[in-house]
Amino acid sequence: MLALSPDPKPTRHPAVQAFAPGRVNLIGEHTDYNGGLALPFALRAGVRVEARASSEEEIVARALDLGEDDRFPLRAIEPADGWRAFVRGAVAELRRSGVPIRGATLAISGDLPRGGGLSSSAALTVALCLALIELAGARRPGALALARICSRVEHAWAGAMTGLLDQLASLCGRERHVLLIDFAALELEQVPLKLAGHRLVVLDSGERHAHGASGYNERRRECARACELLGVRTLREVTPERAERLPEPLRRRVRHVLSENERVRQAAAALRAGDMSALGALLDASHASLRDDYEVSTSALEAAVERLRKSGALGARLIGGGFGGAVIGLLPPGVVAPAGALEVAPGPGAHASRLA
Ligand code: GLA
Repeated sequence: MLALSPDPKPTRHPAVQAFAPGRVNLIGEHTDYNGGLALPFALRAGVRVEARASSEEEIVARALDLGEDDRFPLRAIEPADGWRAFVRGAVAELRRSGVPIRGATLAISGDLPRGGGLSSSAALTVALCLALIELAGARRPGALALARICSRVEHAWAGAMTGLLDQLASLCGRERHVLLIDFAALELEQVPLKLAGHRLVVLDSGERHAHGASGYNERRRECARACELLGVRTLREVTPERAERLPEPLRRRVRHVLSENERVRQAAAALRAGDMSALGALLDASHASLRDDYEVSTSALEAAVERLRKSGALGARLIGGGFGGAVIGLLPPGVVAPAGALEVAPGPGAHASRLA
């Protein structure tokens, strides 16, 4: 009989998991890249990434919900489309910022509609970055530094010149709170979300968007042009009177940004005072401004807003960049939400941990 030596221990590579939530922006749209104000919160739904180290010098990624794969070598990362752009971008931008990324397999899953206005792409990028940082055993950068890395992924790899709203909401969310973000001072304040029995619901317009391809970048260019003409660094420095002298459509674009900042201030005050009808009216006014001055609404978004109002919402508006996606409504107690509407409440921010 042969003496069998005991099985060599299988080499267990370290493994981690990360979760990053999507976000809803209560109010303050297209203000982030204009040094303005916004009032988002993190959702309970989001993107989960499980990462396991491998001995190969490559990344193998699986999008479990789509049944799709990606594989690329660490030494030469080529651009790609769709969800793969975010994986490749996250790896490349983390390496560029000094995180020692090693070979790994990544399993990605989630429960957010993609391109549905709930910030699925930022949730994906934040979850990927947290998982890769944790796997590398590197120190996690502060929320702002990490949000900036994630936004470089959007800019350089997905071609969407988005601001920091989604990433900061995903990273800094807290249960039962909305985040008041001042993008000029880069200050964050947690404001309790007390709705006096009212509920917030989101309704999908059914229309998908990708900011790289929508009018989003064009709006951003228009704001940059307005700053140039007015000789300011951001629109935060502009008074409504000065904006009136701009040529169209820049005059209306800037009018939206300035009036939206004011509505964010008033919405935070309405929340603190428990004044739900004031909050509802501000949501309606924000939507009208996004539709008429910023021109980012579509007939599908209008129909979704209308459905919420008809069902008895105190106010409703499109959320996110527009050109498709979702709308939010504030429902008083006892009002039945329209079919397909999803109740939303603030959940905790993104997190990562080692797996056994
Ligand atoms: C998208 C972008 C954000 C922000 C919103 C509009 O969600 O990713 O940076 O600009 O649109 O408020």
